[in-house]
Amino acid sequence: MEFSVKSGTADKQRTGCVVAAVFEGRRLSAAAEQLDEASQGALTGILRRGDLDGRAGQVLLLHTLPNVPSERVLLVGCGKEKEFHEARYREAVARSMDALKHIGATEIAFFLSEAEVKGRDVAWKIRQAVEIIEASQYRFEQLKSKPKPSKRALKRVILAVPRRSDLANGEQAIREGQALAAGVRLARDLGNLPGNICTPEYLADQARDLGKHHHFKVSVLEEPDMKSLGMGALLSVSRGSRQPPKLIVLEYRGGAEDQAPIALVGKGLTFDAGGISIKPAANMDEMKYDMCGAASVLGAIKAAAELKLSLNIVGVIPSSENLPDGNANKPGDIVTSMSGQTVEVLNTDAEGRLILCDALTYTERFEPQAVVDIATLTGACVIALGGQASGLMSNNDQLARELLNAGKYAWDRAWQLPLWEEYQKQLDSNFADMANIGGREAGAIIGGSFLARFTKKFKWAHLDIAGTAWKTGKEKGATGRPVPLLVQFLIERASKYAAETSKETVPA
Ligand code: BES
Ligand code: MN
Ligand code: ZN
Repeated sequence: MEFSVKSGTADKQRTGCVVAAVFEGRRLSAAAEQLDEASQGALTGILRRGDLDGRAGQVLLLHTLPNVPSERVLLVGCGKEKEFHEARYREAVARSMDALKHIGATEIAFFLSEAEVKGRDVAWKIRQAVEIIEASQYRFEQLKSKPKPSKRALKRVILAVPRRSDLANGEQAIREGQALAAGVRLARDLGNLPGNICTPEYLADQARDLGKHHHFKVSVLEEPDMKSLGMGALLSVSRGSRQPPKLIVLEYRGGAEDQAPIALVGKGLTFDAGGISIKPAANMDEMKYDMCGAASVLGAIKAAAELKLSLNIVGVIPSSENLPDGNANKPGDIVTSMSGQTVEVLNTDAEGRLILCDALTYTERFEPQAVVDIATLTGACVIALGGQASGLMSNNDQLARELLNAGKYAWDRAWQLPLWEEYQKQLDSNFADMANIGGREAGAIIGGSFLARFTKKFKWAHLDIAGTAWKTGKEKGATGRPVPLLVQFLIERASKYAAETSKETVPA
């Protein structure tokens, strides 16, 4: 998709469709006003007949308005003008794209981005529009033998900005939105691929391709490497699978040589049947999504590389399957992690923390400035926060705040849960240093508390994305979250770093 920004009036656009906002009570946006004036009141005449009063969710497609060169005009109800905040704006953009799905316009001029959104600037509006428009075109059809015949596809989108002085910011926002959308697409594709195709090996190949394309180093640790590193926790999970495990390491170096990297560690369970503590059959297919943490690491690094962020980023992806087998972990087994700490595996279905703990210990060698792990870790997090927010836990308040704010800006929000010392006793074991589960209470926090025992040497945050990484039900599929949050976090770290280094080089 091709995007551009333009400051101009809606009645002068020679294009497939002009998209303009109408607020509740038939209040015309600036763009709708221009269309109405040019057509000598044709638009207000239509509205007066009651076809649209501007409530959120309404749309009205008009073919040809007198004296308006655009082939079509789509009016989009945006609710009360005073309440046009982030969620409403996002809904309105998505609703417009939905309404345009079945028409043949190859180019549109989009004027919703011109309207005032509470507390947000032009860059925010443009970036969100690009992301939502790109997402609206997403299809996962690579595994259908006969893909649906597609109508004439949308090719170009012109995004309106209020002033000429907004053009430069708008263009930068388009670049960011497109890089982000590419990262989200990659994460969704990988998430949607089934376990028989998207294996640990497949994820490793994807990482290698990414590294080749963007010229950064990718290495893959194999089972013997893990054995010599003493990754007993990770290897205990992969022992039950015919697919060899992989520890995938991506090293994007866009920053200065001496800049400590940011590490992103993603859970890459390409299928989680639960192991000997096997899951119930209903919806077990959804456990192909148990590698969405890994997918978000690949997606975020892809976006960062496309944006050429001046930052060093290390991606670490432990990848395995979790299956029942004669050789699999048994409840009660005790394994020794790379850190030397021993773990009693009371439930083989709490496998994510077992592969992550060794990956986190491995990450120490990069002396990272911060580590963020991303994992579909607990069903309890889905119960606590649903599909709206990822669960965030951290051993550093500053890092937690940064991630929460990045999520708010990207509209890919997280919500913090406590990691108090008092929770740790739930992990007590009679036979090992700790158990891998801690009873029914506070399941998401216990997952985080387990990982906290392996992250004492750096600033660390944990994102539990079990509720946000995919949708269930009729629209089942990967969402690409939390790629937007992660990329925003990286963008902000990069600009903070740029500001600091430019200060240093200013002559005294
Ligand atoms: N991958 C699952 C978590 C999960 C469950 C994500 C449902 C999304 C939906 C994870 O490996 C798991 O099985 N966790 C267990 C932990 C429990 C045994 C302490 C869970 O949540 O039931
Ligand atoms: Mn599990
Ligand atoms: Zn799992």
